[in-house]
Amino acid sequence: MKKKMTISSIKKSKGLAPLVMITAYDALFASLFEESCDMILVGDSLNMSFAGKADTLSATMDQMIYHTNAVCNGAKNSFVVCDMPFGTYTNQVDALENAIRVFQETDADCVKIEGGESKAEIVKHLTSNGIAVCGHIGLLPQSYRSEGGYKVKGKTSDEALSLIEDARAIEDAGAFCLVIEGVIAEVAQEVAQSVDIPVIGIGAGNQVDGQVLVFSDMLGLFEEFTPKFVKKYLDGAALVKDAVKSYAGEVKVRDFPQSEHTY
Ligand code: KIV
Repeated sequence: MKKKMTISSIKKSKGLAPLVMITAYDALFASLFEESCDMILVGDSLNMSFAGKADTLSATMDQMIYHTNAVCNGAKNSFVVCDMPFGTYTNQVDALENAIRVFQETDADCVKIEGGESKAEIVKHLTSNGIAVCGHIGLLPQSYRSEGGYKVKGKTSDEALSLIEDARAIEDAGAFCLVIEGVIAEVAQEVAQSVDIPVIGIGAGNQVDGQVLVFSDMLGLFEEFTPKFVKKYLDGAALVKDAVKSYAGEVKVRDFPQSEHTY
Protein backbone atom coordinates (compact mmCIF):
# COMPACT_ATOMS: atom_id res chain seq x y z
CA MET A 1 0.00 0.00 0.00
CA LYS A 2 1.17 3.51 -0.80
CA LYS A 3 2.84 5.41 2.06
CA LYS A 4 1.02 8.64 2.87
CA MET A 5 3.17 11.75 2.60
CA THR A 6 3.62 13.97 5.65
CA ILE A 7 4.55 17.62 6.13
CA SER A 8 8.08 16.43 6.85
CA SER A 9 8.41 14.14 3.79
CA ILE A 10 6.94 16.88 1.59
CA LYS A 11 9.50 19.39 2.87
CA LYS A 12 12.32 16.84 2.44
CA SER A 13 11.28 16.21 -1.17
CA LYS A 14 12.75 19.57 -2.21
CA GLY A 15 15.55 18.92 -4.68
CA LEU A 16 14.40 15.31 -5.26
CA ALA A 17 11.70 14.04 -7.65
CA PRO A 18 8.93 16.59 -8.36
CA LEU A 19 5.76 16.28 -6.25
CA VAL A 20 2.54 15.25 -8.02
CA MET A 21 -0.63 17.04 -6.95
CA ILE A 22 -4.07 16.79 -8.51
CA THR A 23 -7.45 18.19 -7.56
CA ALA A 24 -10.38 15.98 -6.54
CA TYR A 25 -13.78 16.84 -5.18
CA ASP A 26 -15.29 13.45 -4.41
CA ALA A 27 -14.43 10.04 -2.99
CA LEU A 28 -14.62 8.16 -6.29
CA PHE A 29 -12.12 10.23 -8.24
CA ALA A 30 -9.90 10.69 -5.16
CA SER A 31 -9.66 6.90 -4.84
CA LEU A 32 -8.62 6.63 -8.51
CA PHE A 33 -5.91 9.28 -8.09
CA GLU A 34 -4.47 8.02 -4.80
CA GLU A 35 -2.07 5.46 -6.27
CA SER A 36 -0.21 7.89 -8.53
CA CYS A 37 -0.38 11.21 -6.72
CA ASP A 38 1.50 12.54 -3.71
CA MET A 39 -1.07 15.13 -2.70
CA ILE A 40 -4.77 15.72 -3.44
CA LEU A 41 -6.08 19.28 -3.49
CA VAL A 42 -9.72 19.92 -2.74
CA GLY A 43 -9.51 23.18 -4.67
CA ASP A 44 -12.15 25.87 -4.60
CA SER A 45 -12.05 25.33 -8.39
CA LEU A 46 -14.84 22.87 -7.50
CA ASN A 47 -17.12 25.90 -7.56
CA MET A 48 -16.49 26.01 -11.33
CA SER A 49 -15.97 22.43 -12.44
CA PHE A 50 -18.34 20.81 -9.93
CA ALA A 51 -20.92 23.52 -9.20
CA GLY A 52 -20.87 25.13 -12.66
CA LYS A 53 -20.19 28.70 -11.47
CA ALA A 54 -18.18 31.18 -13.54
CA ASP A 55 -15.45 31.66 -10.92
CA THR A 56 -14.36 30.41 -7.49
CA LEU A 57 -15.58 33.40 -5.46
CA SER A 58 -18.88 32.04 -4.17
CA ALA A 59 -17.44 28.81 -2.75
CA THR A 60 -18.27 28.44 0.96
CA MET A 61 -16.67 26.79 3.99
CA ASP A 62 -19.58 24.32 4.17
CA GLN A 63 -19.01 23.32 0.55
CA MET A 64 -15.24 22.89 1.08
CA ILE A 65 -15.81 20.81 4.21
CA TYR A 66 -18.37 18.57 2.48
CA HIS A 67 -16.07 17.87 -0.48
CA THR A 68 -12.96 17.52 1.69
CA ASN A 69 -14.70 14.84 3.74
CA ALA A 70 -15.64 13.01 0.56
CA VAL A 71 -12.04 13.13 -0.71
CA CYS A 72 -10.62 12.02 2.66
CA ASN A 73 -13.08 9.11 2.71
CA GLY A 74 -12.03 8.01 -0.78
CA ALA A 75 -8.26 8.46 -0.38
CA LYS A 76 -7.31 7.59 3.17
CA ASN A 77 -3.63 7.25 2.23
CA SER A 78 -3.31 10.62 0.57
CA PHE A 79 -2.09 13.93 1.88
CA VAL A 80 -5.17 16.15 1.45
CA VAL A 81 -5.08 19.93 1.04
CA CYS A 82 -8.29 21.92 1.62
CA ASP A 83 -8.60 25.31 -0.06
CA MET A 84 -9.83 28.17 2.12
CA PRO A 85 -12.51 29.91 0.06
CA PHE A 86 -12.66 33.62 -0.79
CA GLY A 87 -13.57 35.84 2.17
CA THR A 88 -12.87 33.24 4.87
CA TYR A 89 -9.40 34.48 5.89
CA THR A 90 -9.58 38.26 5.64
CA ASN A 91 -8.49 38.66 9.28
CA GLN A 92 -6.70 36.48 11.83
CA VAL A 93 -9.78 35.65 13.90
CA ASP A 94 -11.91 34.48 10.95
CA ALA A 95 -8.97 32.68 9.37
CA LEU A 96 -8.24 30.67 12.52
CA GLU A 97 -11.90 29.94 13.22
CA ASN A 98 -12.45 28.68 9.66
CA ALA A 99 -9.18 26.72 9.52
CA ILE A 100 -10.03 25.07 12.84
CA ARG A 101 -13.32 23.97 11.28
CA VAL A 102 -11.33 22.25 8.51
CA PHE A 103 -9.17 20.43 11.04
CA GLN A 104 -12.04 19.50 13.37
CA GLU A 105 -14.65 18.57 10.77
CA THR A 106 -12.42 16.80 8.21
CA ASP A 107 -9.21 14.74 8.04
CA ALA A 108 -7.47 17.26 5.75
CA ASP A 109 -3.75 17.60 6.40
CA CYS A 110 -3.49 21.32 5.70
CA VAL A 111 -5.30 24.35 4.36
CA LYS A 112 -4.29 26.44 1.32
CA ILE A 113 -4.44 30.22 1.30
CA GLU A 114 -4.09 32.56 -1.68
CA GLY A 115 -1.78 35.55 -1.31
CA GLY A 116 1.85 36.51 -0.68
CA GLU A 117 3.37 39.08 1.66
CA SER A 118 -0.01 40.64 2.40
CA LYS A 119 -1.24 37.32 3.84
CA ALA A 120 1.95 36.49 5.78
CA GLU A 121 0.56 37.61 9.16
CA ILE A 122 -2.50 35.42 8.66
CA VAL A 123 -0.37 32.43 7.66
CA LYS A 124 1.80 33.03 10.77
CA HIS A 125 -1.27 33.16 12.99
CA LEU A 126 -2.51 29.84 11.59
CA THR A 127 0.83 28.02 11.71
CA SER A 128 1.51 29.22 15.26
CA ASN A 129 -1.88 27.78 16.25
CA GLY A 130 -1.29 24.30 14.90
CA ILE A 131 -2.70 24.66 11.38
CA ALA A 132 -0.44 23.49 8.53
CA VAL A 133 -0.56 25.93 5.63
CA CYS A 134 0.22 25.60 1.93
CA GLY A 135 0.62 29.05 0.33
CA HIS A 136 -0.56 30.06 -3.15
CA ILE A 137 1.13 32.91 -5.02
CA GLY A 138 1.26 34.29 -8.57
CA LEU A 139 -2.05 34.27 -10.45
CA LEU A 140 -4.70 34.15 -7.73
CA PRO A 141 -8.08 32.89 -8.98
CA GLN A 142 -9.80 34.53 -5.99
CA SER A 143 -8.58 37.93 -7.30
CA TYR A 144 -10.21 37.28 -10.69
CA ARG A 145 -12.81 40.03 -10.34
CA SER A 146 -10.61 42.61 -8.59
CA GLU A 147 -7.90 42.19 -11.24
CA GLY A 148 -10.36 42.07 -14.14
CA GLY A 149 -9.37 38.59 -15.35
CA TYR A 150 -6.70 35.92 -14.96
CA LYS A 151 -3.34 37.70 -15.36
CA VAL A 152 -0.08 35.82 -15.88
CA LYS A 153 2.53 37.12 -13.40
CA GLY A 154 6.29 37.68 -13.55
CA LYS A 155 6.37 39.57 -16.84
CA THR A 156 8.39 42.49 -15.43
CA SER A 157 11.41 42.52 -13.12
CA ASP A 158 9.32 44.27 -10.44
CA GLU A 159 6.74 41.49 -10.59
CA ALA A 160 9.50 38.88 -10.47
CA LEU A 161 11.00 40.50 -7.36
CA SER A 162 7.69 40.77 -5.61
CA LEU A 163 6.96 37.07 -6.31
CA ILE A 164 10.27 36.16 -4.65
CA GLU A 165 9.37 38.39 -1.69
CA ASP A 166 5.92 36.78 -1.52
CA ALA A 167 7.40 33.28 -1.43
CA ARG A 168 9.94 34.21 1.25
CA ALA A 169 7.28 35.93 3.39
CA ILE A 170 5.00 32.89 3.25
CA GLU A 171 7.92 30.56 4.04
CA ASP A 172 8.98 32.76 6.99
CA ALA A 173 5.38 32.71 8.22
CA GLY A 174 5.66 28.93 8.57
CA ALA A 175 4.06 27.53 5.40
CA PHE A 176 5.48 24.10 4.52
CA CYS A 177 4.95 24.39 0.75
CA LEU A 178 3.61 26.75 -1.88
CA VAL A 179 1.55 26.60 -5.05
CA ILE A 180 2.71 29.03 -7.74
CA GLU A 181 0.20 29.66 -10.52
CA GLY A 182 0.36 31.39 -13.91
CA VAL A 183 3.95 32.64 -13.72
CA ILE A 184 6.62 32.95 -16.44
CA ALA A 185 8.68 29.75 -16.22
CA GLU A 186 12.09 31.39 -15.58
CA VAL A 187 10.63 33.51 -12.78
CA ALA A 188 8.89 30.52 -11.19
CA GLN A 189 12.22 28.68 -11.27
CA GLU A 190 13.90 31.62 -9.51
CA VAL A 191 11.13 31.66 -6.91
CA ALA A 192 11.62 27.94 -6.29
CA GLN A 193 15.36 28.50 -5.88
CA SER A 194 14.76 31.35 -3.42
CA VAL A 195 13.00 29.28 -0.74
CA ASP A 196 13.68 26.00 1.07
CA ILE A 197 10.07 24.76 0.89
CA PRO A 198 8.72 22.92 -2.19
CA VAL A 199 7.10 25.15 -4.81
CA ILE A 200 4.38 23.34 -6.77
CA GLY A 201 3.56 24.89 -10.14
CA ILE A 202 0.48 25.20 -12.31
CA GLY A 203 1.17 27.11 -15.50
CA ALA A 204 4.63 27.87 -14.11
CA GLY A 205 6.97 25.73 -16.22
CA ASN A 206 8.74 22.54 -15.26
CA GLN A 207 11.66 23.81 -13.20
CA VAL A 208 9.71 24.01 -9.95
CA ASP A 209 9.39 21.34 -7.24
CA GLY A 210 6.12 19.77 -8.36
CA GLN A 211 3.05 20.13 -10.55
CA VAL A 212 -0.67 20.43 -9.91
CA LEU A 213 -3.52 20.21 -12.41
CA VAL A 214 -7.29 20.41 -12.09
CA PHE A 215 -8.44 16.84 -12.78
CA SER A 216 -11.36 17.76 -15.03
CA ASP A 217 -8.97 19.74 -17.24
CA MET A 218 -6.30 17.04 -17.53
CA LEU A 219 -8.86 14.30 -18.13
CA GLY A 220 -10.44 16.37 -20.91
CA LEU A 221 -13.82 16.44 -19.18
CA PHE A 222 -14.17 20.20 -19.38
CA GLU A 223 -14.90 21.06 -23.00
CA GLU A 224 -15.50 24.80 -22.99
CA PHE A 225 -11.95 26.03 -22.63
CA THR A 226 -8.48 24.53 -22.25
CA PRO A 227 -5.87 26.82 -20.68
CA LYS A 228 -2.45 26.81 -22.42
CA PHE A 229 -0.79 25.11 -19.43
CA VAL A 230 -3.12 22.10 -19.44
CA LYS A 231 -2.18 18.85 -21.11
CA LYS A 232 -5.16 16.61 -21.80
CA TYR A 233 -4.15 13.07 -20.84
CA LEU A 234 -7.57 11.70 -21.85
CA ASP A 235 -10.37 12.78 -24.16
CA GLY A 236 -12.74 12.29 -21.25
CA ALA A 237 -15.71 14.27 -22.57
CA ALA A 238 -15.81 12.33 -25.85
CA LEU A 239 -15.40 8.98 -24.07
CA VAL A 240 -18.17 9.74 -21.58
CA LYS A 241 -20.54 11.03 -24.27
CA ASP A 242 -19.90 7.98 -26.49
CA ALA A 243 -20.54 5.61 -23.60
CA VAL A 244 -23.77 7.33 -22.57
CA LYS A 245 -24.88 7.46 -26.22
CA SER A 246 -24.35 3.69 -26.51
CA TYR A 247 -26.34 3.11 -23.30
CA ALA A 248 -29.18 5.37 -24.49
CA GLY A 249 -29.23 3.69 -27.92
CA GLU A 250 -29.41 0.19 -26.39
CA VAL A 251 -32.20 1.20 -24.00
CA LYS A 252 -34.26 2.64 -26.86
CA VAL A 253 -34.16 -0.65 -28.83
CA ARG A 254 -34.48 -2.87 -25.70
CA ASP A 255 -30.95 -4.21 -26.22
CA PHE A 256 -30.15 -3.41 -22.59
CA PRO A 257 -30.50 -5.06 -20.12
CA GLN A 258 -29.64 -8.53 -21.44
CA SER A 259 -30.13 -11.79 -19.53
CA GLU A 260 -26.74 -11.41 -17.73
CA HIS A 261 -27.94 -8.11 -16.27
CA THR A 262 -31.29 -9.49 -15.17
CA TYR A 263 -32.36 -11.18 -11.87
O1 KIV B 1 -8.69 25.60 -6.69
C1 KIV B 1 -7.80 24.99 -7.30
O2 KIV B 1 -8.03 23.98 -7.98
C2 KIV B 1 -6.44 25.52 -7.21
C3 KIV B 1 -5.47 25.06 -8.25
C4 KIV B 1 -5.71 25.83 -9.49
C5 KIV B 1 -4.09 25.15 -7.78
O3 KIV B 1 -6.17 26.33 -6.38
